Amino acid sequence: MKVLIIGHGNMGKTYANSFISSRFIKPEDIFALVRNSDFSGIESAIPKANFSTTVSEKIGDFDIVILAVKPQDFSVLAQTVKPYLKDGQIIFSVMAGITIAKLEAQLSCSKIVRSMPNIPTQIGMGMTVFTASANVDRKELFIIQNLINTTGKSVYVENEKLIDAATAISGSGPAYVFYFMQSMIKAAVDLGFNESEAELLVNQTFMGSVAIQNSYSLSNEEWIAKVASKGGTTESALRIFEKGLLEKTIIEAVKAANDRALELGS
Ligand SMILES: NC(=O)c1ccc[n+]([C@@H]2O[C@H](COP(=O)([O-])OP(=O)(O)OC[C@H]3O[C@@H](n4cnc5c(N)ncnc54)[C@H](OP(=O)(O)O)[C@@H]3O)[C@@H](O)[C@H]2O)c1
Repeated sequence: MKVLIIGHGNMGKTYANSFISSRFIKPEDIFALVRNSDFSGIESAIPKANFSTTVSEKIGDFDIVILAVKPQDFSVLAQTVKPYLKDGQIIFSVMAGITIAKLEAQLSCSKIVRSMPNIPTQIGMGMTVFTASANVDRKELFIIQNLINTTGKSVYVENEKLIDAATAISGSGPAYVFYFMQSMIKAAVDLGFNESEAELLVNQTFMGSVAIQNSYSLSNEEWIAKVASKGGTTESALRIFEKGLLEKTIIEAVKAANDRALELGS
């Protein structure tokens, strides 16, 4: 199986490294199409000889073509690669907001996979939600899911609208987590810890909470009840969350991200 990755930025690099380190694809079978012809400084698991800046009929030889450029660069890219793509190739897009209909129309290809990964894919802990056009068959979908799973976990959805919803949850989600962590670090410093102690306390609390939550089949509500004893300290904090309508604010924020994803896609 030969794969072409177009765009060797954060995501392009992540896929190349994950496919190769998982031994799912041999390094010599992965190629990269980039804009900058100076390959000397490139750090990649892809052999240097497999980098190119030239768009040619060779593009038609790849089984899978991964589009890992920014959404705003897609239209220009589409014009240059469209003449060389063949309809049997699988086009695998990680671009936010670019719909299957748009990919089909601008590339004249009918086997399209649209995905929404998140930043922990870079360390194999990612969450990717993906969907595919009707022309992608079960076997092809299985291969794609295996490729995606080299970067973490994945969920296949039939309804393309859920890709925008995933953008608002797992795509943007790491930033929500970092925001919450940052707020807790600020509170820890206010209470007398130095920055590095505060960071350790908060990071370990997040790591430990997710790990214990994953180790038992208790709901979040049950875990909260285990930590928050009646009349205790945690209950005082939770009361402030409720007074500030924090849950409602989080739900509203996620919906705003979803609205923006829909807006960008239209
Ligand atoms: N980063 C994330 O966490 C994340 C999460 C979910 C989805 N995504 C999606 O993934 C895509 C890539 O994001 P990224 O963070 O990897 O961006 P990035 O680091 O900016 O990488 C994009 C790369 O594409 C290259 N490029 C642009 N036009 C090109 C062309 N015509 N031919 C060849 N290469 C071209 C750019 O080259 P130059 O260096 O020359 O500009 C750049 O190296 C985006 O569409 C984004 O929506 C990213």
